[in-house]
Amino acid sequence: MEKGKKKSVTVIDNQTGKKFEFFIKNGSSGPSVVDFSNFYSKTGMFTYDPGYTSTASCQSAITFIDGEKGKLLHRGYSIEDLANNSDYPEVCYLLLNGELPDENQKIKFREILTNHTMLHEQILRFYSGFRRDSHPMAIMVGIVGALSSFYSEKNYDFSSIEGQWVAVSRLLAKMPTIAAIAYKYSLGQPFIYPKNELNYSENFLHMLFSTPCGEYHPSKARVEAMDKLLILHADHEQNASTSTVKMAGSSGANPFACVAAGVASLWGPAHGGANESVIRMLYEIEKEENIKEYINKAKDKQDPFRLMGFGHRVYKNHDPRANVLRKYCYSLLEEIDSVNFPLLKLATKLEDVALNDRYFISKKLYPNVDFYSGIILKALGLPESMFTVIFTVARTVGWISQWKEVNEIHTNKISRPRQLYIGKDERAFPKLKERNKKSKKKMFPGTVLGRLFQT
Ligand code: CMC
Repeated sequence: MEKGKKKSVTVIDNQTGKKFEFFIKNGSSGPSVVDFSNFYSKTGMFTYDPGYTSTASCQSAITFIDGEKGKLLHRGYSIEDLANNSDYPEVCYLLLNGELPDENQKIKFREILTNHTMLHEQILRFYSGFRRDSHPMAIMVGIVGALSSFYSEKNYDFSSIEGQWVAVSRLLAKMPTIAAIAYKYSLGQPFIYPKNELNYSENFLHMLFSTPCGEYHPSKARVEAMDKLLILHADHEQNASTSTVKMAGSSGANPFACVAAGVASLWGPAHGGANESVIRMLYEIEKEENIKEYINKAKDKQDPFRLMGFGHRVYKNHDPRANVLRKYCYSLLEEIDSVNFPLLKLATKLEDVALNDRYFISKKLYPNVDFYSGIILKALGLPESMFTVIFTVARTVGWISQWKEVNEIHTNKISRPRQLYIGKDERAFPKLKERNKKSKKKMFPGTVLGRLFQT
């Protein structure tokens, strides 16, 4: 590249010898990107990157991750600083607005969050329509989506700043209430109304664990553990659920419906479900005497077993969120007397063995955030099915901040990926009689459906 010239890369089609130049864009940190937005118009080809492993789908100023260095920043602040010095509403304010609030802004934001915690009584009636044994995430998808009928485009202009704030405030304020009611419904207990004099995490615990017969007064360690857990899951750049919310939003869809799409994406075991697998694994290991056997299974390449809650796709040295959460996890375990809680004692023993095992050390397989969040949620007394629900509450701010950012800084371009087509070429439509003569492809081989379609 000549001096003074814009940085670019040249793609050479080695069949035609044609050269195409594409400009490089630099962010404020992290890898640069090659701007391929005009790749098709220039070359007549699409770029191909299933799973987007090498594709920056957007530009964003909210969250930065450096996986090699184990760094996670929100608006420039490290996750360690935020978790140790801030509370969840303050982190929400930061993600949404780009700066930490001053005292007055903090008070006003708290007012906004507490003034909208209740659900419309009509929404409460929706819950009884769900099967008693529904997974609480199924309820979450349904109820969050249903909010779009209460906050519709007829009454709100979601492209305006005011309209966006309606979506932001209602979602952040109501999500803990929606989640707690989903839990109470699964238990068959009466719903507990929010208490606005409590802080965000205290109120969430109150709605989860109080009953009309007895008020739940969580200890400092419990409130702290919940608050830190919410902070550590608040945002994580362009992950699957965030990208889902943004993609849905790119069509101009109602923000509550977009967030419901994000909830659905988070529900999957490859995304929000990992901490649930940690607890399931601990049940499978069962007792300390079995740890060695399971560590060996995890090392055995012929065995599909992996130590759940260890390793990370992006963080290759350590997961910064895990380091922070470990501290709060241990304070909580001290308080609840993990000695008499065998599953949690087993977890700490497993952590110790793995951290000192040569295989895990050499492959840099450290506990990730899910290892500790699984333990914390279990220690708080929640069933595994609620783990992803708590993650949903925490991640709502990430979804809605990124949705808001798209509306603020991007041209409203609908997300419309293309494909590499591998199906049939154009062919003539055969009459039904002709189709009978042709040798038939077996439908659904080896299944009940297959027998149904057999002639
Ligand atoms: N137990 C045993 N071996 C492991 C583990 C594990 N948990 N994780 C990775 N390895 C080994 C793996 O076998 C491979 O060995 P080799 O080099 O000999 O082939 C090496 O370490 C590298 O693993 P990889 O699969 O290439 O790494 P990856 O980046 O593709 O996978 C991972 C990352 C998270 C999918 C994987 O570490 C894993 O399956 N962990 C357990 C599940 C888990 O805890 N998931 C939650 C991740 S955090 C989610 C979030 O941030 O939201």
